[in-house]
Amino acid sequence: MKRFAVFVSGEGTNLKAIYEAVNKGEITSQLALVFSNKPKAGGLKFAQEVGLETLHLNPKDYTNPQSFDRDVVIHLKQAKIDFIVTAGYMVLFTPYFIKEFPNKIINIHPSLLPSFKGKEGIKDAFTYGVKLTGVTVHYVNEKMDNGPIILQEAVKVDNKETLESLTEKIHKVEHKIFKQAIALHEKGCLKIHGARRVEVINQ
Ligand code: GRF
Repeated sequence: MKRFAVFVSGEGTNLKAIYEAVNKGEITSQLALVFSNKPKAGGLKFAQEVGLETLHLNPKDYTNPQSFDRDVVIHLKQAKIDFIVTAGYMVLFTPYFIKEFPNKIINIHPSLLPSFKGKEGIKDAFTYGVKLTGVTVHYVNEKMDNGPIILQEAVKVDNKETLESLTEKIHKVEHKIFKQAIALHEKGCLKIHGARRVEVINQ
């Protein structure tokens, strides 16, 4: 059985959805570790409450991002982690970290990439006035919100939409397709062609 870690910096609603999917058997790998750079992250608190293994390391305690990532990698190797899921983890990985887990880091982003990269994907799309936005699950490479796309789902922006109602719709879709992408990855159903294209095989 594969072992995976979920990285969080915030509320952790995606972590919760993943945890529930594990409990229902929709994800068969073991959620072996929840890691956070923020001691007060809601996701970390949730993980502690439900009895998951947790780890917090503060980037400020390290001289540079690479020494932080080196320490994180040591802990991941000790915990025998096979792949990583970033669910609202607000720290960029160094190239060193990515090389340690090539095509083994899965991220979720609340827009249809490559549009609206960055921290405010939902707000930026709403403010821009798009009529269609959505959710992207992708492998992580060295560039922010850039790696090969695993799954995407569109979300319509209605006439009377508010940022709040759009955020709610986006989160709902996130909680649905993140677990699907993780399940495809763990089953070996994702074949990457070149630098970008992900084919779903043997589903
Ligand atoms: C999600 O919208 C995710 O797409 C983005 O950060 C948010 C995390 O939300 N990367 P939560 O902490 O899972 O509630």
